[in-house]
Amino acid sequence: MSSRTSKKKASSSVSIVGMGYVGLCTAATFASRGITTRGVDVDQERIRQISQGRAPIHEPRLEGMLKVAVKRKLLKVSTETSDIADSTTTFLTVGTPSRTDGSIDLTFVRLATEQIAKTLAQKEDYHLVVVKSTVVPGTTNGIVRPILEAYSHKKAGQEIGLAANPEFLKEGTAIDDALNPDKIIIGANDEKSRDHLTRLYKDFYRRKLPPILVMVPEAAELVKYASNAFLATKISFINTIASVCQRTPGVDVNQIAEAIGHDPRIGPLFLKAGPGYGGSCFHKDLQAIIHYAKEKGFDAVLLRATEETNENQAEQVVELAQKILGTLGQKRIAILGLSFKKDTDDIREAASIRVINKLHEKGAEIVAYDPMAVRNTKKSLPYRIDFAQDSRSALEGADCAVIMTEWDEFKRLREKDFKALMRNANIVDARRIFQPSDFEHSNYQGIGIGT
Ligand code: UGA
Repeated sequence: MSSRTSKKKASSSVSIVGMGYVGLCTAATFASRGITTRGVDVDQERIRQISQGRAPIHEPRLEGMLKVAVKRKLLKVSTETSDIADSTTTFLTVGTPSRTDGSIDLTFVRLATEQIAKTLAQKEDYHLVVVKSTVVPGTTNGIVRPILEAYSHKKAGQEIGLAANPEFLKEGTAIDDALNPDKIIIGANDEKSRDHLTRLYKDFYRRKLPPILVMVPEAAELVKYASNAFLATKISFINTIASVCQRTPGVDVNQIAEAIGHDPRIGPLFLKAGPGYGGSCFHKDLQAIIHYAKEKGFDAVLLRATEETNENQAEQVVELAQKILGTLGQKRIAILGLSFKKDTDDIREAASIRVINKLHEKGAEIVAYDPMAVRNTKKSLPYRIDFAQDSRSALEGADCAVIMTEWDEFKRLREKDFKALMRNANIVDARRIFQPSDFEHSNYQGIGIGT
């Protein structure tokens, strides 16, 4: 393919391979800044939806941005990897799912890299390939680089560039996170790759440019795991303290979290005790880094404990229900909230599923409600439970309500609602959305409250 890339285009055209959660949000934000963006995915149905400006996933702001981008022809999507040739930078954002031993499956990374490389073999101009997928240290240099060089017949660092550039997007605020990141991590082996990517981000963020930290690819890859491992550990830490609080009358974990959070070395964020972390990243990434460390001959005991604490946290929730009800067999339990956090329909690794499984094992009769995640839960549970149309009908006739997700609509419920609708007003607040003082005439138990 002949070179048609003008100087202006050099800093203003990107392509994204893998139109999943990260790829789609990244593509939408690039396009929103007037940068010509090409999106590629093997899933035809997904590409069809995106090309009509529809978002195949639920993420605030995303669909609106996609509509504008498609209409203004700033975002073009297809199933043809060869379409990346028009851009100067390709971001690899394909999935890296878990294998049963915790390690990551690099099948999609390998396949996509091969396709990208075959296209680059035909291209004369310099082209940078950026690994944004979450991959363990050594993947960019040890897996991506040899495939890229073999199929493009070019040398990374010379005719083509290669960099690792992890993302830190949170579900529900991904667009805002992409537009206002706290840092940019660039892992590069050579100056040209580093400078090319730095220039792209400088053009993108302009006056709002966050700190750019440059390191070797292996370090950049590890930053992502260290970040998620630290956040997950913070949650398991506060959940550990919550379990201690539950056994200490008069003590509330929220007070402890607030107090320790004043110490700037600790900080107030991510210290909300709850039913345990969920979502597609923490568990997967913790397992991957534990597995990686093990392969390197190191037992990451702390991270194993983080995961074990999280797994056990579901039992803490069930124990609170048992504390009120005694046995759970035949008891009707209303589960309010199924998604792993509010404002999403995502139930991957959600604590609600762990709690439902335990209640089911103990013979409880379960009725669940969630504003968005019922459909996904129905698909994933291997047994039948009841689903309610709204929170009020879920509460009707229930022996106990367990609040599993901090949806705003649950916060609007009052003690009188629970008393009027339930057989007995027994509440387990696994998210601490209420104040115990609001439930003086009910049996209220909350995570981390010592009674
Ligand atoms: C997480 C990280 O926060 C992102 O920085 C990262 O980019 C992303 O994973 C990823 O690797 O892709 P996300 O999974 O969207 O983002 O959700 P979070 O908001 O981090 O929440 C994760 C879980 O922790 C939720 O179940 C949430 O309820 C729980 N959580 C969070 C707590 O129980 N307590 C807290 O104080 C905070």
